[in-house]
Amino acid sequence: MTTVSMANGIKTSFTIRGVEFKNRVFVASGTFGYGDEICELVDVNQLGGIFTKSLSWKPRCGNPPQRIIETASGMLNSIGLANIGVQTFIEQKLPYLRTLSTRILVNIAASSIKEFCDVLSVLEEQKGIAGYEINVSCPNVKEGGMSFGTDCKMTAEITSQLRTLTTKPLIIKLTPNVTHISEFARAAESAGADAISVINTLIGMAVDIKTHKPKLSTVTGGLSGPAIKPIALAKVYEVAKAVKIPIFGIGGIAGTEDAIEFLLVGATAVQIGTMNFVDPAISIKIIDGLENYARENKISNISTLVGALDADVKFSVLQSWL
Ligand code: DHB
Repeated sequence: MTTVSMANGIKTSFTIRGVEFKNRVFVASGTFGYGDEICELVDVNQLGGIFTKSLSWKPRCGNPPQRIIETASGMLNSIGLANIGVQTFIEQKLPYLRTLSTRILVNIAASSIKEFCDVLSVLEEQKGIAGYEINVSCPNVKEGGMSFGTDCKMTAEITSQLRTLTTKPLIIKLTPNVTHISEFARAAESAGADAISVINTLIGMAVDIKTHKPKLSTVTGGLSGPAIKPIALAKVYEVAKAVKIPIFGIGGIAGTEDAIEFLLVGATAVQIGTMNFVDPAISIKIIDGLENYARENKISNISTLVGALDADVKFSVLQSWL
C-alpha cells in the first residue's frame, strides 16, 4: 500500500518505479558521508532521501592533498572517489541506515562495467536500499568516471547492463562537461534508467600565483556550489525537454528559492550538495521553505510546480538542436 505524504495538507511526495519518497529534497552524494555522521546535527528522517558517497568494489584512498579548495561562490574538489568500499559499507554503515525512515540511495562509481555490476549485485542482496545512483560523471579519476559519462554508447551500455540486475530505481548521474547533455539523458532513458541526476560538477582549476602551481594536486577538479547554479538550471531545462523520466536537479542550491527554480525548469526533486558543508541543516530548512511557499501560493501538490516555467519557446535557443 502506498502512503501519500502530506505536510500540513500539501502533497509533497512522489514515486519512482513504485518507491515513494516523502518529499522532494535530498542530500547529494559526497556531501553527507554515509548519513551516520550528521544524524546528531540534523533529523535526517525528514529528508526525501540520502544519496550516499560513491561506493566502489574495493576501498579507495582517493587523490593526494590538496584536494578541496574554496573558490568564489563555490568549491573545487578532486577527492578521487575516496570511499570505504562496498563490503565495509554493508557491514558498518547499512545496519544503521536501515533503521532510518528516510530513503537510502546508494551512489556507485566504478572503473569498469563489471565493477558497476559487481557492486550493484552485492547491494541487491541487502535490505534497506531504495535505489541506486550511477556515477558516470566523476571528473577526478583516470579510469571510468567522466570518461564513461562523456561516451553516449557507454552510458547506455552501463545502464542497460545494470537494468538487468535490479528492479529498484536506477538513476544515472550525468556530467555537464559535454556539448549536449540531453543526448546522454536520452541514451540513459532508452537503456532503462528510471531517473536522471543533473548535474555533476564542472571541470575547473585554480592557480597559486606565489608558487605558479595549480592549487589542486590533480591540477583540475570539479566545481560545485552557488557558482554553478545558472549552468545547472539550463542543463536541467535541456534534459527536461528531452526525456519523460524524472530529473533530480543538482547544482548550487543554497535555499528555498533556488530549489523552486529547479522544480520550475523541470526537476521532479532536488539534491542539496555543497551547501551541506556550510549548513548541515540547509535541506531541512528548504523542506520547510517549500511547504511555506506552497501554502502562501495555495499550491496543494508540489508536483504542479514541476516544469511550470512560463518560457516563450519562440525565443529559446535550445529548440534549434533539441
Ligand atoms: C568525486 C567528485 C565529484 O564531483 C563527484 O561527483 C563524484 C566524486 C570525487 O572526486 O570523489
